[in-house]
Amino acid sequence: MIPAVVVAIDGPSASGKSTVARRVAERLPDFVYVDSGALYRLVTVAAMQAGVAPEDGPVVRRFLDALPLEYIVRDRVVVYRVGGREAGPELRTQAVNENVSLFAALAPVRERVVGWLRGLTRFGSLVMEGRDIGEVVFPGAACKFYLNASPEERARRRHRELEGRVAPDDGGLRQVDESLRRRDRIDSGRAVAPLRIPAGSAVIDSTGLTIDQVVEVVLLQVRQVPGLVSNG
Ligand code: CDP
Repeated sequence: MIPAVVVAIDGPSASGKSTVARRVAERLPDFVYVDSGALYRLVTVAAMQAGVAPEDGPVVRRFLDALPLEYIVRDRVVVYRVGGREAGPELRTQAVNENVSLFAALAPVRERVVGWLRGLTRFGSLVMEGRDIGEVVFPGAACKFYLNASPEERARRRHRELEGRVAPDDGGLRQVDESLRRRDRIDSGRAVAPLRIPAGSAVIDSTGLTIDQVVEVVLLQVRQVPGLVSNG
């Protein structure tokens, strides 16, 4: 069996990671795209539905042990299911945005999610995006990237993304900006696996770049990895 290759793309919210990682995976034959943040969001939704609070250590552990999580790969994207139901738009509500970093800061949650993410190499080579992929989940990743953009640009992007998807009382650009900054603060300040630039990663500031330009920069570097061939 050919060993799985991992391309790790880390960075803060709305830095362009998701779109870039998805497109990079599309351009690399046999690679599967993994959104690790969606798993933290999924744990958060399921915990909130079960009435589990982040402060309840032992309850959180029992809840994680019992979580009926499954994965499938569709169109080279890893899709998560809980109890046979596919995770969807409920992962991106305001309530989840407000709570996900609190659950993601918990050691038992991180331990579990990191284990699940490592297990995904059974599907083959991966382009995985997140906060700690190049540092903790796959420190030996073949290629590591850290994508960033100015806070103002990230807030503008996330606000644009949300337009048309959420109710008009979402609070507008200012509230999106505050919510992202709060999440960045928690993600960067937590004791376990804080968001930081992984050793050996290429840092890309996407503030003045288009998505296509960032994709090309990433692919240029990935193509240097011996044994990897891109289909364009
Ligand atoms: O889409 P966005 O960049 O806003 O966030 P996400 O990638 O869906 O991640 C949601 C949250 O999950 C982050 O704010 C982190 O708290 C957590 N997360 C993490 O701790 N480690 C990861 N590898 C991925 C996400």
